[in-house]
Amino acid sequence: MNDTPVFNAPNGTLQLPPQMSTLAPHVDWLYYLVFWCSVASFVAIVGLMTIYIIKYRRRPGRKSLPTGHNTPLEIAWTVIPLILLMGLFHLGFKNYMSGLVAPKDALQIHVRAMQWNWEFEHPNGTTQMNEAMLPVGVPIQFIISSSDVLHSFYVPEARLKRDAVPGLYTTLWFEVPKERLQGKKDVDVWVFCAEYCGAPHGITNGSEANTNHSTMRAQLHFVPQSVYDDFLKKGPPPPPECEGKPNVASCWGEQIYEQAGCRACHHTDGVTEQPGPNWKGLFGHNVKFEDGTSQVADANYIRQSILQPQAKIVAGYTTINMPPYRLSDREIDAVVAYIKSLGEQ
Ligand code: CUA
Repeated sequence: MNDTPVFNAPNGTLQLPPQMSTLAPHVDWLYYLVFWCSVASFVAIVGLMTIYIIKYRRRPGRKSLPTGHNTPLEIAWTVIPLILLMGLFHLGFKNYMSGLVAPKDALQIHVRAMQWNWEFEHPNGTTQMNEAMLPVGVPIQFIISSSDVLHSFYVPEARLKRDAVPGLYTTLWFEVPKERLQGKKDVDVWVFCAEYCGAPHGITNGSEANTNHSTMRAQLHFVPQSVYDDFLKKGPPPPPECEGKPNVASCWGEQIYEQAGCRACHHTDGVTEQPGPNWKGLFGHNVKFEDGTSQVADANYIRQSILQPQAKIVAGYTTINMPPYRLSDREIDAVVAYIKSLGEQ
């Protein structure tokens, strides 16, 4: 984008969500150009049709005459739309390239799609699940990949979408202008999955978090650069909702359980044992593995199960392969505290 973007509708319009990227005003301008051209054509075509239907309606004693050939008219209705469409293609292609080719100094964030989560990795290796803290006023390039099936990284407020393809990197970039903060601490931008990527067998309850395509979404929290730098240094902090709770770590662990997608497979009711082992009473319990060995479920066991889920398969749980979850040490501690809070044996 060479020209300065103008924020025509920072809060969105009837048809479009808020403009949260420097690209958005350009896309919207083109969208409304196409929209109003379509409205004009619709009115012209339907209007003329109506007039002609009335004017040339069948009347007794009048015979219809076949219409002749009109070369200038035919050339006009071929060439004018051609010029119009080439113009639209040029503008659309320009916008497409703008969203594809990132500036050299862009901050690179890896995005890994998996059933049914979005994992974000920052340049220093910090990872976040289904949410990411990112700076405003900086071009951010998302390097997208998939660990299992086709997904699609869709950010409506940035007006961008790119497929996450197994075995292939795809990219897109955008910048949230500083003005979008409007004096607030942070501003959120939603990510959705726009490629049907399945639903687990037997789970039909739509209220379950991150258990299928339709709930596979993430929230990007855009903050000032200084806040982002601080976050990179210390890792994600416990959520504000858990501050002041008697057990901050287990409260945070329960949130991770919900948000990172653990609950898609692990129940905590002490009853349901599939598809993943139940967490209630797991801590301190002697766990038997597929290979015949066993181990007491302590903090180290839980840590390994999160980072290398395939290292030890609990007997009877071979049907579903859990992907590794790259949680930070603080987050793993929180999950351990949560499992511990569900009761020991
Ligand atoms: Cu991932 Cu739909």
